[in-house]
Amino acid sequence: MCGIVGYIGSKQAAPFLLDGMSKLEYRGYDSAGIAVLEKGQVRVEKCVGRLDALRQKLEGNMPESVIGIGHTRWATHGRPSDRNSHPHTDSSGKFVVVHNGIIENYLALKEELIAKGVEFSSDTDTEVVAHLMADLFDGDMESTVKKVLKVIKGSYSLVFMCEAEQDKIICTKKDNPLVIGLGEGENFIASDIPAIINHTRRTFIMSDGEIATVTKDGVWVQDIEGTPINKKVFEVNWNAEAAEKGGFEHFMLKEIYEQPKAMRDTMTGRVNAEEKTITFPELNWTSEELQGINKIFIVACGTAYHAGIVGKYYLEQLARVPVEVDIASEFRYRSPLVDGNSLCIVISQSGETSDTLAALRESKRLGARTLGVTNVVGSSVAREADQVIYTYAGPEIAVASTKAYTTQLLAMLMLAIYVGRLRGTLAEEQAKELVGGLASIPEQIHKMLEDVDQIKVFAREYGSCEDAFFLGRSLDYAVALEGALKLKEISYIHAEAYAAGELKHGTLALIVSGVPVIVLATQEDVYDKTVSNLQEVKAREAVVIAIGFEGDTSLAKYADHVIYIPKTGKYHAPLLAVLPLQLLSYYAALTRGCDVDKPRNLAKSVTVE
Ligand code: G6P
Repeated sequence: MCGIVGYIGSKQAAPFLLDGMSKLEYRGYDSAGIAVLEKGQVRVEKCVGRLDALRQKLEGNMPESVIGIGHTRWATHGRPSDRNSHPHTDSSGKFVVVHNGIIENYLALKEELIAKGVEFSSDTDTEVVAHLMADLFDGDMESTVKKVLKVIKGSYSLVFMCEAEQDKIICTKKDNPLVIGLGEGENFIASDIPAIINHTRRTFIMSDGEIATVTKDGVWVQDIEGTPINKKVFEVNWNAEAAEKGGFEHFMLKEIYEQPKAMRDTMTGRVNAEEKTITFPELNWTSEELQGINKIFIVACGTAYHAGIVGKYYLEQLARVPVEVDIASEFRYRSPLVDGNSLCIVISQSGETSDTLAALRESKRLGARTLGVTNVVGSSVAREADQVIYTYAGPEIAVASTKAYTTQLLAMLMLAIYVGRLRGTLAEEQAKELVGGLASIPEQIHKMLEDVDQIKVFAREYGSCEDAFFLGRSLDYAVALEGALKLKEISYIHAEAYAAGELKHGTLALIVSGVPVIVLATQEDVYDKTVSNLQEVKAREAVVIAIGFEGDTSLAKYADHVIYIPKTGKYHAPLLAVLPLQLLSYYAALTRGCDVDKPRNLAKSVTVE
């Protein structure tokens, strides 16, 4: 996690650093700090809290320098505090570093340094790196960084500055993202492109093990042996405004409303609406190629994991391949039975989630074919998977994922149709029907978003509850899991999702008078059974908000309230049914005065295990 920026040029560094960090706050916002070389000396300014706290601290006392580094923190080692904030320096204050990741052997290194008389001033793993720089300094910053890299273990993006060499910043990475922006007489370093996009569009992405020496006039990249590396520079073609709020109160709401476009974009080039077929030009699979695949693993974290669960239903039912879905942090520790006949699909909005990447690497090691489903072009998942399907949701800034989730569902449904046709398990007629249904989805979402007053009312009415339950069967259950996660992460209401039939095996004990229970009832084949479960909670005086299709006249007889969604097919239903759940969470969080886009303790991109 954590956000990193760096600047060297002839303008003032601090304004760029603060602006860049504001674009990276999604990576962490426990504290913020910058370091510059001012009048030849390292000056560090940092404090616990959001970036605004640092801005206030610097008011009227802005550091003056044309070289600097900055950091927004998501705490791993040491609680959020001033002293644990980055940048960190060695004892002399001449070497300064910012870090994203974890130095796994920091305790052993710390003990060695303490034995040499070094005094530590934070509880972080990062501080050892600053002291190591001082301890190993041989008069040359590049060669010292290489020595440090030989000693530290773990995952990192690291950016170094020192008083001895005032004309350069050095950075390197392993398992954490780092990009370089190239300007005219100035150069930029950042964890992610939004931080530099207002300054330059010429950029390249650092790969693991590369060391970049960034000066005002150029960037020189080498590996640890000193072999020069030629990086491919590319132009970022994002619209800078795409990363701004565009008139919405929160990024989350904006992103919810961007779903029709995100769906259309993700279908472009894949859905042939006239012929009602799906193609994936980027995969170009043949039926022969797929013969060898006898098992699919889907591995992901958080919301992407929930998309994976929906994907399992799709792939098993339409393509008739056994699918296992794993939480990425569990996957590699359970000795998964992955082999050359397996296809491992990793789903990741950011493409940088550490556990997901580790699962991808483990699958490759075990000989599986790998497919990444990601939203970020050039991300680690995109680069490392054998093949990649991009979701075209556009930048997602709010921590709580919305449009990335629905585009992931869409990608999984399109993939299942595609594979089903190639394997001959899905009849042409059914495929056409499914594709026809897909083509209507963006418009249906658009229509649903036109009137959300009913949801606002429910959010006001039930937003003060402390517990909520989400029930559903089959695909509705998979969506219920995402609904509960959304509510938890942004409104802090304790929420649990259950397969509706499972509730009576324990959790029914928690259903008491007035507890809100959201029941999804879109799956025809299990509809009656779901309604029976609905009645079980009603009998315990729960308040039931049901979600069903327009035209369903039964639900209103049993539920206290019904939210109707446009009629669609059973496989398409998750794409629509999740919408009221996203909105309910959003408005409940507003009712409770929560910081919607930056929920406590969470971060957008989790690049630590
Ligand atoms: C974090 C985010 C979640 C996200 C998960 C996986 O926990 O807060 O919203 O679903 O990471 O992220 P990824 O980028 O791999 O989809």
